[in-house]
Amino acid sequence: MTDIKACIFDLDGVIVDTAKYHFIAWRELAEELRFEFTEEHNERLKGVSRMTSLEILLEVGGITLDEEQKLKLAAQKNDRYVSYIEKMTPDEILPGVVSFLNELRLAGIKTAIGSASKNTPLILERLKLEKFFDAVVDGNKVSEAKPNPEVFLKGASELGFEPKNCIVFEDAVAGVEAAHNARMKCVGIGFPEVLGKADMVIPGFQRFNLSKLKEI
Ligand code: BG6
Ligand code: MG
Repeated sequence: MTDIKACIFDLDGVIVDTAKYHFIAWRELAEELRFEFTEEHNERLKGVSRMTSLEILLEVGGITLDEEQKLKLAAQKNDRYVSYIEKMTPDEILPGVVSFLNELRLAGIKTAIGSASKNTPLILERLKLEKFFDAVVDGNKVSEAKPNPEVFLKGASELGFEPKNCIVFEDAVAGVEAAHNARMKCVGIGFPEVLGKADMVIPGFQRFNLSKLKEI
């Protein structure tokens, strides 16, 4: 059994459903580039960095661009995305998240965010969640993307714990792999068919609690 001292949470898709805003912003960009970008295509962008997401989008559209043009489009998409997430409120925190975070606090278990998103500070501020996390490791602090374990290893080290005492919560396949590459156990948030490699899969935090986590 794991001696749980810390929980490290991915942000997008675990704490809040930002995928819909990423999708709208990427789809608008695709429309300007005159091709269709579907929700199915968008699945491929989950957990993937901004620039890699753009590469995938351009591949879907069969478009080749130079580095400067790519940077311009990524910035354009991000401006749009930010205009959506700026309007988010704490109502958009996924069900059960706050009560689980409160339970961890009461039990003395430390918490961190481990996300690829460079917009993490803005999202946490809009959701009024900053006070729930003892460390925040995001796309501004890491150079390697998931499935590289860097983001979770940094989270563990900022909290001062060994990987073996940390549990990761992830909704993306690459994130589950990153947790395992960091030698941490992982709770998958989503469907077992997709996240089968996780040590436990739950649909969300509703009806989830610390005693269930201890079964991991
Ligand atoms: C991840 C999302 O958390 O962050 C990806 O799942 C996103 O879809 C990535 O591309 C980078 O986010 P941002 O906010 O830095 O563009
Ligand atoms: Mg995610």
